[in-house]
Amino acid sequence: MTDRKPKAPGLPASPERRRFLLTGAAGGLASAGALAGTAAAAGNPENLPPNVADWSRYLGSGVDAQPYGVPSEHEAHVIRRNVPWLTATPESSVNFTPLHELDGFVTPNGLCFERHHGGVAEIDPADHRLMIHGLVEKPLLFTVADIKRFPQENRFHFLECAANGGMEWRGAQLNGVQYTHGMVHCVQYTGVPLKLLLQEAGLKTSGTWILAEGADSAGMSRSIPIEKALDDCLVAYSMNGERLRPEQGYPLRLVVPGWEGNMWVKWLRRIEVGDAAWYHREETSKYTDLLPDGRAYKFTWTMEAKSVITSPCPEMPMTDTGAHVIKGLAWSGNGRIKRVDVSLDGGKNWRTARLHGPVLPKCLTRFTLDWAWDGKPVLLQSRCIDETGYVQPEIAALQKVRGVNSIYHNHAIQTWLVNESGEVENVRLG
Ligand code: MTE
Ligand code: CO
Repeated sequence: MTDRKPKAPGLPASPERRRFLLTGAAGGLASAGALAGTAAAAGNPENLPPNVADWSRYLGSGVDAQPYGVPSEHEAHVIRRNVPWLTATPESSVNFTPLHELDGFVTPNGLCFERHHGGVAEIDPADHRLMIHGLVEKPLLFTVADIKRFPQENRFHFLECAANGGMEWRGAQLNGVQYTHGMVHCVQYTGVPLKLLLQEAGLKTSGTWILAEGADSAGMSRSIPIEKALDDCLVAYSMNGERLRPEQGYPLRLVVPGWEGNMWVKWLRRIEVGDAAWYHREETSKYTDLLPDGRAYKFTWTMEAKSVITSPCPEMPMTDTGAHVIKGLAWSGNGRIKRVDVSLDGGKNWRTARLHGPVLPKCLTRFTLDWAWDGKPVLLQSRCIDETGYVQPEIAALQKVRGVNSIYHNHAIQTWLVNESGEVENVRLG
């Protein structure tokens, strides 16, 4: 084995990216990779066998030192990060999940990326109500306690912002998986099927759309067809076993499995049932995809099959030759992931990766491939296939259909270049 020291993530390929790497966001990015490696390498030999380590010589802190537990101080670099120049203000902005630091398919609550249009609403649940009205027999006002008395469901689902990967449509831009793919998270939701609440209010057969509205300062609202509302939507109050976090919509949020994140209205306060005329409402036509000929591609709600290698990646360079686990995540808004293939040569040859169950519908699926690196450059890619038979496309194929005007629904295959020094870079082939 050769001695390879981890360095900061690979050099930027374009001047734009170079600028990005020299600014604050990238400072954090660089230190994430470099610090983790240095800390491991610069350990105190006094703590190593056969010596008795410091922490074995004295009593640890007692049970109440952290009434609400937090990660080890040595994991302080594992945080959501934003790209300050991407948006004008943090209240209408986004930060990104550190996918490269995670195992399994569940995102810890404190690491779920955030996307707000008007900041985080600070809601006292005692004063919060959910109103259901419009084309119903009896309009209703629910307290949060009322909602919890309905039969509950517990389901794992991914949430992906339609703009995830939006910067990458025209070429490789952001040199880190946290930024290229980190607008996705996956937790177990506990909530009430929206169908039960609509039935309670006496849904009229003339109702063909719902409008869901949040209690944040943006009052964000989205229209959703009634078929979806009655199918698998939840009004959730918990994530990963505890109450929703304020930034994820406390105390109530809409869960719209497999569909783009903007429809998952947080701080949910109102659902109005409407008829076909709602089709023309302004809310429905936001988030369209601009096609090459200037027309807009509307109602692109489903998040299509997508996967990415989360290690190695720019933040997780190779530190040595020999045995290594290639790790990644795959997901599809159309159901379960059926297979994931990994290529080491930019898509010429593929090996089937191992899927780590449970493999659930509209949920992240963890995959790995055990691999021995010989120190030669590698073009890493992953490609997933979902249970409908849909195959994740190459970016060139996607661009042929969708052009490069859109910033939404980029689910193309990602390429990482592992160079001889072990650094990993976001590259675009062809
Ligand atoms: N709901 C409200 N009320 N206000 C918002 O700004 N942002 C939407 C959606 N729901 C938003 C909202 C967008 S664009 C996304 S991608 C998801 O919430 C992000 O959910 P998260 O912050 O839990 O990751
Ligand atoms: Co979004």
